Amino acid sequence: MSGEFVDLRSDTVTRPTPAMRRAIAAADVGDDLFGEDPSVRALEEEVADRFGRQAAVFTPSGIMATQVLLRALTTPGTEVVCESYAHLAAYEAGAAAINAQVQLRTIDGDRGRLDADRVAAALRPPGFPYVGLAMISVEETTNRGGGAVHGVERLEALRRLADEHGVPLHGDGARLFNALAATGDDPRRVGAVFTAFSVCLSKGLGAPVGSVAVGDTAVIDEARAWRRRFGGAMRQAGVLAAAGSYALRHHVDRLADDHAHARLLAEVLVGTHPWAVDVDAVETNMVFVDTGRRPAADVAAELADARVLVAAMGPTTLRLVTHLDVDADGCRRAADHLVAALTGP
Ligand SMILES: Cc1ncc(COP(=O)(O)O)c(C=O)c1O
Repeated sequence: MSGEFVDLRSDTVTRPTPAMRRAIAAADVGDDLFGEDPSVRALEEEVADRFGRQAAVFTPSGIMATQVLLRALTTPGTEVVCESYAHLAAYEAGAAAINAQVQLRTIDGDRGRLDADRVAAALRPPGFPYVGLAMISVEETTNRGGGAVHGVERLEALRRLADEHGVPLHGDGARLFNALAATGDDPRRVGAVFTAFSVCLSKGLGAPVGSVAVGDTAVIDEARAWRRRFGGAMRQAGVLAAAGSYALRHHVDRLADDHAHARLLAEVLVGTHPWAVDVDAVETNMVFVDTGRRPAADVAAELADARVLVAAMGPTTLRLVTHLDVDADGCRRAADHLVAALTGP
């Protein structure tokens, strides 16, 4: 056992850098509920502008960004279609049923990605007694799908389908910046594809708190009202927004490093255990590892003893996520311990 912890459980574990802390300390603030926090306004304007959209609203979490959009874009007693692995369906503690009072219809895709043809084939005919389709929701990149990327063309096909059915296309863009880094797609083209979407500042971008919901003014005004109803309207939130703005300026371009580190990890592992990892599936900052005959929880515990933290996502599946606080050496160390753990005594 040696060295610092290499924490690959999630990209949410990062701590603000000294420079980000300085930006937080210097933030100009006011009461955001009165629309008087200049740092929050600057962040909202910057995010909307990057994606070529009219408006944005800062929320305390990714889930709240999704929930306020869901509530703003749907009516109770209708159905939202999403992929089976969607965060919305799996990890939000039933929030959609409580907040927006919608039912979720999950459709199998590939690695968390929705395919327009498959969705089209699964949609129910309109009219009583069928439940009305309210919205299609898509995650970019996919979390449970291992950081897989739809890319703008696949998203545009989903938007065409949503338009044909007269419903909005929602984007959970918790890792949308990772997708953009991987594809090189134009943010304005991707921003235009969704009726409304969110981006997260506290995952790959390394800010301590916050997400931003983005869309047209009318939808964002409505989302802002729902944020208030959900208790998520904040006061001098500029200290948080300043971290987000700093992250947008300094931590977007470096996402490519995280992707290179994930690939490095996978490539070391595949050298000795080709069955354990699919290198081609490593598109962004996640590596899913098959632990074979060893339970994933046992491998994770063994790695933790060596100060390498990973997440067990299933009986024989580990997830490793690269981020700002892990460098190439850390990834090599993690890969070496993983190789040893999978090789056994
Ligand atoms: C795809 C996706 N959406 C939403 C969230 C929720 O974000 P938060 O934890 O900020 O609520 C996560 C968190 O990991 C996520 O991976």
